[in-house]
Amino acid sequence: MIKIQNLTKRYQKLTAVDNLNLEIAKNEVFGLLGPNGAGKTTVIHMLATLLKPTSGTAIVNGYDIISDPSKVRSSIGIVFQAPSSDDMLTGYENLRVHTSLYQVPSSQRKKRIQAVLELVGLADRQHDQVKKYSGGMRRRLEIARGLLHKPKVMFLDEPTLGLDPSSREMMWKYIEKLVKEEEMTLILTTHYMEEADHLCNRIGIIDQGKIIALDTPANLKRSIGGDIVKIKTKSHTDLEELRKLVYVRKIESVDGNVILYVDNARANIADILQHVKAEYVEFRSPDLNDVFLKLASKNIKEDGEGGFMERYAQYGK
Ligand SMILES: Nc1ncnc2c1ncn2[C@@H]1O[C@H](COP(=O)(O)OP(=O)(O)O)[C@@H](O)[C@H]1O
Ligand SMILES: [Mg+2]
Repeated sequence: MIKIQNLTKRYQKLTAVDNLNLEIAKNEVFGLLGPNGAGKTTVIHMLATLLKPTSGTAIVNGYDIISDPSKVRSSIGIVFQAPSSDDMLTGYENLRVHTSLYQVPSSQRKKRIQAVLELVGLADRQHDQVKKYSGGMRRRLEIARGLLHKPKVMFLDEPTLGLDPSSREMMWKYIEKLVKEEEMTLILTTHYMEEADHLCNRIGIIDQGKIIALDTPANLKRSIGGDIVKIKTKSHTDLEELRKLVYVRKIESVDGNVILYVDNARANIADILQHVKAEYVEFRSPDLNDVFLKLASKNIKEDGEGGFMERYAQYGK
């Protein structure tokens, strides 16, 4: 559905998107995950033909973004990072304006507006002015607006940015419903790991305009190499003993803590504790946070002010 070829965007010296190559399949829910300034919005805006690439191109729904932008535009819906509905109009009126902009046939307008309002749970508030909506409702209205012309591809740029945790979870439910009920390819950007993990079939982690990891959430987590067992030790521990255990894949020792990467921590924890004098132990399955930390440690050499660790500081907990 989308084929990105050597896509690049430069602003003077800054390379916001750096020779990106990526394919996204039909009906995939693809997440572009990365810190602020990674280049996520720039990618989306180029794919949506709102921003001209410095070089490279992309094919969206069979149309080239450079040579066939109007065909691309009629294939896509987009929800911007910053809200763009008219506050003084009602939800219904906002959608009504857009059906004419997007040339939804007049015989279908009313029906389609009601259908998208239902989908995002705003049917009962459609005649209220948008200024009376909560942040979550505004975002849902924008999703509804992006859906009016039944696009093949939908771009959601940071759909939950600035929402409180409960509105965020509600938004996730609506996005899941959207994926189920409307046949479409969805590309969403986010800097929330749990969000990408929860919603996406596949994730591209982007940093400084480059994809640095690309896979399903499960595979990304699997790349960590097993469950994580953290043990605070009472006395010096003989790591060689632990290394001999068949289910232990990797051992790290950090300030009196031993971190083990093991197969099936739950089944093996009792055995592990036979080999260490533990003061405290915890174990868990890896999450995307661990994937970031691993990527961070790979990139540690180029660290420093504005370096990888700083850019990922928000994930470091
Ligand atoms: N119009 C612009 N002029 C100059 N630099 C820009 C412009 N738009 C974006 N940038 C820069 O490009 C980089 C990527 O920005 P953006 O795509 O908005 O990142 P993200 O959406 O991942 O937070 C950032 O360093 C940003 O400051
Ligand atoms: Mg952005």
